[in-house]
Amino acid sequence: MYLTKEEEHILQGEQGEVVERMFRLIVQLGDIYGADKMIPVGSVQVAGVSYKSIADPGTEFLEDLAAKGAKVKVLTFLNPAGMDLENWEKLKFPKDFAANQLRIMKAFKSMGIVITATCTPYLAGNLPRFREHIAWSESSAISFSNSVIGARTNREGGPSALAAAICGKTPNYGFHLWENRQPTIKIKVEADLTFDADFGALGYYVGKQIKNKIPYFVGIKNADTDQLKALGAAMAASGAVALYHVEGLTPEADLVKKDSLETIAITKKEVDEAYAKLNTGKEPDIVILGCPHASLREISSVAEKLKGKHLKKPVWVCTSRMMKEAADRMGYTDIIEKAGGQIVADTCMVVSPIEDMGYKTTGVNSGKAANYLPGFCKQNVCFASMDKLLEAAL
Ligand code: F3S
Repeated sequence: MYLTKEEEHILQGEQGEVVERMFRLIVQLGDIYGADKMIPVGSVQVAGVSYKSIADPGTEFLEDLAAKGAKVKVLTFLNPAGMDLENWEKLKFPKDFAANQLRIMKAFKSMGIVITATCTPYLAGNLPRFREHIAWSESSAISFSNSVIGARTNREGGPSALAAAICGKTPNYGFHLWENRQPTIKIKVEADLTFDADFGALGYYVGKQIKNKIPYFVGIKNADTDQLKALGAAMAASGAVALYHVEGLTPEADLVKKDSLETIAITKKEVDEAYAKLNTGKEPDIVILGCPHASLREISSVAEKLKGKHLKKPVWVCTSRMMKEAADRMGYTDIIEKAGGQIVADTCMVVSPIEDMGYKTTGVNSGKAANYLPGFCKQNVCFASMDKLLEAAL
């Protein structure tokens, strides 16, 4: 890989031990993947934030970096943490877990990272532009930024994203190059899709079938950004889809080559099959919405459904702190809390320790969450639309 004089000096330690170590890591990555050079990144999103995911070794690694004076060079946000960083006591998150989570947040903050823990950074103040190079590491955020925004990121791991943040650069390979953004399979959608959960079921089915291919969807007549985020999140979870195109909807769909692609048709039968596969439980003991983190529009629909009602079961709506603040101002939080539900910021059903909080069966409307909850959180899953789940909780 070609390195500039300045980059060579970084490898000789001119900018200190931490930058040298981090730069060496991304140079090695670039060499492995055949990058020709380094490119500047506009922003970074770092995964590996929850104490549940990184435990003591990860926490100590971050504290060590912070103690050595690591600082980020570009706008850097975080993936969800393991708890609501402000209301964890009220929500009954375990105290020892909280103490460790707060150590992690302190280390990130001292590196200059924005303590906004969300998988929808694009809704919370970190919005890349079309064709901007970025280094993000949460799979649904990668999918959304590559596909719906048309920004360019590889599937970064926590350490390589952190290295990109500290160096302000990433190696130029993979999805940063136009030739690697071309579709490799066509998906003809013949099923009617109504609810966000339908998009999650479609994404789950397609991801399982195509693994890490790049799908070009035809037949999706209309979908809002919430439905596209549900689709991308599920495909990234059941497969490893980091980029997709939707005819007429996503910005690169008209620009890519899509002739003579192998085609798979998806009918109602396949969508129903995905629903059946994802449903492993009967009655949820908690309903958790907001995977990926809920938009203000999604929070407002929950508030509308719960207005003046009383929930018999706990309901959480996971979101970013920014969306929660907007929901507070709009009175949505008040409506949801009066009904007995909670808006839970900074975390989600998968990275928080719900299995240690007494829950065994979780109701979700997200194909991604339904895919991960059995393995990551030992949960049975009731996968259905938001309307059905809220009806069951009332
Ligand atoms: Fe986000 Fe957690 Fe879902 S990180 S995409 S809400 S599993």
